[in-house]
Amino acid sequence: MNVKETVREKYGAAARRVKSGGSSCCGSAASSRGCADPITSNLYDANETGNIPEEALLASLGCGNPTALANLNPGETVLDLGSGGGIDVLLSAKRVGPGGKAYGLDMTDEMLALARENQRKAGVDNVEFLKGEIENIPLPDNSVDVIISNCVINLSGDKDRVLSEAFRVLKPGGRFAVSDVVVRGEVPAEVRRSMELWVGCIAGAMEEYEYVRKLAKAGFVSMDVEPTRVYSIDDARQFLTGEGIDVDAIAPQVEGKFMSAFIRAEKPALRINASKGCCSPACCH
Ligand SMILES: C[S@@+](CC[C@H](N)C(=O)[O-])C[C@H]1O[C@@H](n2cnc3c(N)ncnc32)[C@H](O)[C@@H]1O
Repeated sequence: MNVKETVREKYGAAARRVKSGGSSCCGSAASSRGCADPITSNLYDANETGNIPEEALLASLGCGNPTALANLNPGETVLDLGSGGGIDVLLSAKRVGPGGKAYGLDMTDEMLALARENQRKAGVDNVEFLKGEIENIPLPDNSVDVIISNCVINLSGDKDRVLSEAFRVLKPGGRFAVSDVVVRGEVPAEVRRSMELWVGCIAGAMEEYEYVRKLAKAGFVSMDVEPTRVYSIDDARQFLTGEGIDVDAIAPQVEGKFMSAFIRAEKPALRINASKGCCSPACCH
C-alpha cells in the first residue's frame, strides 16, 4: 500500500476544506463524525491560542498539545515534524521569542500554503515552513534544540528512519517532545489492515514499548511515554464505525488500548574524552 501518497492526498483535501471556509476534520471518518472526534477535539486552551489565526485552529489535526508539555526556552530552535496548518509552529515561535526560530516541515503543498498564510496573518518572522518528508529532514546535523510533532510519526511507514533523522538534526542534549497515538498491547489485525484508519492516525500507531525501543535504537536516552487521553470503547466506536469493522466483535480488544501520549526523549549531551581526543556521543563511553 502506498501510505505516503494516500496521506498526502487526505491532508491536501483537509487543507483545501479549511481554505474554502470549512473545518479540516480528522482523518478518515471525518464527515460522519462531524469533526468532533475524540482524538482531535479540545486540545488547546483559549488562553494560549488568543492571537493564533482562526484558520490555523480550524486546520488543527493533532492528538495532543506538544508545546504545552515541552520545555521551550527563549532563543531555541524548534522543529515541528508534519506541521500541517502550523498551529504548533506558531505557538512555539511565541515561546522561543524573536531570538529563537520555529521550523515547520510538511510534505503536502496545500498544508504548506495554508501554514504560510497563517504565518502571514499571525505576523511572525521567526518561523519558516519547509517542504519535505520527515524521513529525510532537510536540515543539517546538530542544528535543532527541540523536536515537536503532533500526530504525524504514527502516519509514517518507516518510523525507524524518522527517529534516526530526528536524532541526527538534534543538537547534543536536544529534546524530542512529541504527541502521538500509541497502543497498549496488541491491536486486532483488521484495524491494522485499514488504510483509512492508518490515515486517521490509528492503524499506524506504535505499541508504547516498541516506541521506546525504536527511540533507543536511534540513540536516544531518558525516554518517557505519558498518556494524555486514553480512549474508551465508545471513543473507539467513533473511529472504527464506517470503516467496515464490526466494532462490537472487537470491542474487548480495543477498550482502553488506544491512547494519545506525550513522548519525551533526549539526545545524549557531548562528553569530552580527552584521552580519545573526541567529543561525540558515540565515542565517549
Ligand atoms: C494529522 S496531520 C497533523 C498536522 C499538525 N501537526 C497538527 O497538529 O495540526 C498530519 C500532517 O503531517 C503531514 N505528513 C504526514 N506524513 C508526512 C511525512 N512522511 N513527511 C512530511 N509530512 C507528513 C501531513 O501532510 C499533514 O499535514
